[in-house]
Amino acid sequence: MTAKIYDSKPLVRRMIEELRSEAEQFYKQHQRSACLTQIIVGHDAPAELYSRQLVRACQTIGLECITLTYPFETQEEELRAAVAMLSDDATTDGVVLLLPLPEHIRQRIVTEALHSQKDVDGLGPSNAGNLLLGFPNFVPSTADVVLTVLRDADIPIAGSHAVIVGRSNVGGKPIALLLMRHDATVTICHSHTQDLASVTSSADILVVSAGRPGLITADMVKAEAIVLDAGINTVNGRVVGDVDFATVKEKASFLTPVPGGLGPLTHLTLIRHILLGPR
Ligand SMILES: NC(=O)c1ccc[n+]([C@@H]2O[C@H](COP(=O)([O-])OP(=O)(O)OC[C@H]3O[C@@H](n4cnc5c(N)ncnc54)[C@H](OP(=O)(O)O)[C@@H]3O)[C@@H](O)[C@H]2O)c1
Repeated sequence: MTAKIYDSKPLVRRMIEELRSEAEQFYKQHQRSACLTQIIVGHDAPAELYSRQLVRACQTIGLECITLTYPFETQEEELRAAVAMLSDDATTDGVVLLLPLPEHIRQRIVTEALHSQKDVDGLGPSNAGNLLLGFPNFVPSTADVVLTVLRDADIPIAGSHAVIVGRSNVGGKPIALLLMRHDATVTICHSHTQDLASVTSSADILVVSAGRPGLITADMVKAEAIVLDAGINTVNGRVVGDVDFATVKEKASFLTPVPGGLGPLTHLTLIRHILLGPR
């Protein structure tokens, strides 16, 4: 079988149109553009690339995007105070803390100071707790994108066995909770999972978010499975996912490519959170 390769371009176009109209409505209602503030601490090439892409996406839609850069030596208390100030600022509509943070800064301490209504990428304990409890909340954009793509492709979730590879707070964990919320039976795999192939081979829906290029090969995938690749890795200057595209496309029935699959939807999803609120 040759998989249907998901092309996110039509959905990207529809989202841009919808969000531009929402941004105009916001402007009319508030006499100003919606404003996202992103915070970067230290230097991390993937985070800086993500940040530039987010600035461009905000320009495309008509949002103001403010980037606050802090040196690596910034202390936890200083960052927490900055986040608390943005939480109280009436003209800031969303705040994104770009990861990774330096090791001396605890994400929990900083995100605790961010009001849940401005925590548009769902990093803080309040939004994460609401996700666990099944209440409306902001979820990390990548997790939201997984759901959006399954819906866009008319793939039923309820009753399916979804296997998620990766358990990070921004990737695997929220993806698993969202799919469980939509009635999938969910298994989460991580670096200590024994015989990963036997678990992934039982998936109707396989979502991979491990940051390991080519981790998932055809022999680890059930015939006609739905495979979503959330990995973004650079190998020899090329961007690749966590799924071995060439072999898995011959076995799965649906596959998201990297680049061009989930990635282009991530920034627009974050902007959607600011303009339309939590799911
Ligand atoms: N599409 C997007 O917009 C988007 C957004 C964010 C991130 N990403 C990409 O998603 C990937 C994951 O990012 P992340 O921030 O979640 O990474 P992370 O924090 O490093 O987490 C990686 C997860 O994968 C697990 N893992 C690593 N090697 C494994 C293996 N051999 N077998 C099974 N599980 C394994 C780890 O297990 P342990 O917990 O046991 O260590 C961990 O849970 C990266 O490629 C990143 O660039 C994409």
